[in-house]
Amino acid sequence: MIPKILVFPGSNRSGAFSAALAAAAAYELAQQGADVTRISLSDYPLPIVDEDLKAQSGIPDNAMKLGRLIAAHHGVFMCCPEYNASIPPLLKNMIDWVSLISKDDDRPFKPWSGRYVALGSSSNGKFGGIRCLNHVRTVMMNVGTQIISEQCSVSGAAEAFEADGRLKDERTQAMLAKTCNALIAHCMMMSGR
Ligand SMILES: Cc1cc2nc3c(=O)[nH]c(=O)nc-3n(C[C@H](O)[C@H](O)[C@H](O)COP(=O)(O)O)c2cc1C
Repeated sequence: MIPKILVFPGSNRSGAFSAALAAAAAYELAQQGADVTRISLSDYPLPIVDEDLKAQSGIPDNAMKLGRLIAAHHGVFMCCPEYNASIPPLLKNMIDWVSLISKDDDRPFKPWSGRYVALGSSSNGKFGGIRCLNHVRTVMMNVGTQIISEQCSVSGAAEAFEADGRLKDERTQAMLAKTCNALIAHCMMMSGR
């Protein structure tokens, strides 16, 4: 069985460090045998989550597209920027919209339910955005995903990546490889082998 993993950064900023980490994670996951889909949330713009809007016009098309994409993968690797020690609104808004999905074509459908999720963070600061990860972890547990323990934080992100996209620092690269390995292992277990 080849595990299918969805990878995305929680930033649409040009030159985003989390996009660089998503590229490095996608490369590492593929090296370890996963079938990887890497997306950008800029291709799925969403309004701010709003229950009145949901009552009037339902779940936005882009949230349904993301929900179906998430459900079509065994696991997700999310690369999170840190805003004020927590989750940036782009990422939280997307997580929230997908959490509001309850059916597709009149069949029960909870895209986050049972997905394995691995987390990475990046920041140009010393802590590599690690403080946001506990918050993301709590949110992802609440929406029904299985969060894996291993995670990867990239500090000094402006200088952390080689021109070919790989991480310069061996320990950080090893942390990324370990996180990818754990995600793949959990996805294989989920599929029964
Ligand atoms: C509103 C805001 C709050 C931020 N708070 C933090 C923070 O708490 N810790 C940190 O390391 N960087 C913080 N930053 C800087 C971000 O880490 C930096 O902008 C980073 O490049 C964002 O991720 P990206 O490169 O993936 O877009 C903040 C940036 C913004 C816009």
